Amino acid sequence: MRKLSDIVPLKFENGKVVWLNTSAIPWKEEYKESSNYEDIARAIETMEVRGAPAIGVMAALGIAAAVYNSQGDVQTLYQVLNRAAERLSRTRPTAYNLFWAIDRMRAKANSLISDNVSPEEFKERIVEEALRIQREDIEINRRMGEIGSQVIKDGDVILTHCNTGSLATAGFGTALGVIRTAWLQGKSIRVIATETRPLLQGARLTMWELTKDGIPSKLITDNMVAYAMRYEGVTKVILGADRILVSGHVANKIGTYGISILAKYHGVDFYVVAPTSTIDRTGANEIVIERRKPDEVRTVLNMVDITVKDAEVLNPAFDVTPPELITGIITEKGIAYPPFKDSLKKFIE
Ligand code: MRU
Repeated sequence: MRKLSDIVPLKFENGKVVWLNTSAIPWKEEYKESSNYEDIARAIETMEVRGAPAIGVMAALGIAAAVYNSQGDVQTLYQVLNRAAERLSRTRPTAYNLFWAIDRMRAKANSLISDNVSPEEFKERIVEEALRIQREDIEINRRMGEIGSQVIKDGDVILTHCNTGSLATAGFGTALGVIRTAWLQGKSIRVIATETRPLLQGARLTMWELTKDGIPSKLITDNMVAYAMRYEGVTKVILGADRILVSGHVANKIGTYGISILAKYHGVDFYVVAPTSTIDRTGANEIVIERRKPDEVRTVLNMVDITVKDAEVLNPAFDVTPPELITGIITEKGIAYPPFKDSLKKFIE
């Protein structure tokens, strides 16, 4: 009997946010905790918690902790909430779920203010809202797993990039959730995971999750993708997203765009899996790409220098895949197919 592991990446306990420090995985499984939104913001910036949905949930829980641990009238609590929201919104610019979750917390606070609630009720309802965002994320992932697994067939060799599992969400995962569901259904599949330089989310996190579930998997370096498609029988690419424009442009971990071009050339289906909370509703047609510190490229995880001192480097955390290279976008509301500007729009109406 196949069974999936149950990883709990984020919790809210006694007014504190508790998070699994993913930068220590696979070497150590350690939880950290804080009720201070500055600590929560730093944990997101340093990528102890990463992955667009997890970042959104972490921010919501951070806002809840800030309010829960403050004293004063409703106006004072509202100011605390806004200060926490403002700081958390300056952590990672590309992941849309971050802004979506913060907006949802702000909207809840505004409606509580118009309802003239007491300070106690304000605190309680703000915490409830954050926990609801967390719970819904897991439910949505399971739903995407059911929907997305329909495209997976016996014998598929699935290439995935970065980490989109329990560790990137409130639990279960997006693209990895689809793969895990297909595995649980008894399908005979194999996974090829890219290491995902510079921070090795594929090697460290995805391989850790796949191994826990017992899903047959192989790790490759990022420059082996074309080889894997040509000689290792890759039949599908399934990966996640940090921000999706209604036009169907998808920002995801650096390297995704290259993989999509290789998939097109080799006739391999290319699926993106993301909750509708990743779809940018602002009408923007540009995506801000986060640039991270040069040392992430100059070293391997700050453990070993791999180039000359002060080498100039490029370190964009994400790239954008255009809609013409995408077969389908799997969401909790169904699978969007081209033309995305029509199919995706329906999902956010
Ligand atoms: O820089 P990261 O590790 O936060 O990037 C994560 C990704 O690119 C994921 O593919 C994306 O957030 C989807 S996670 C379910």
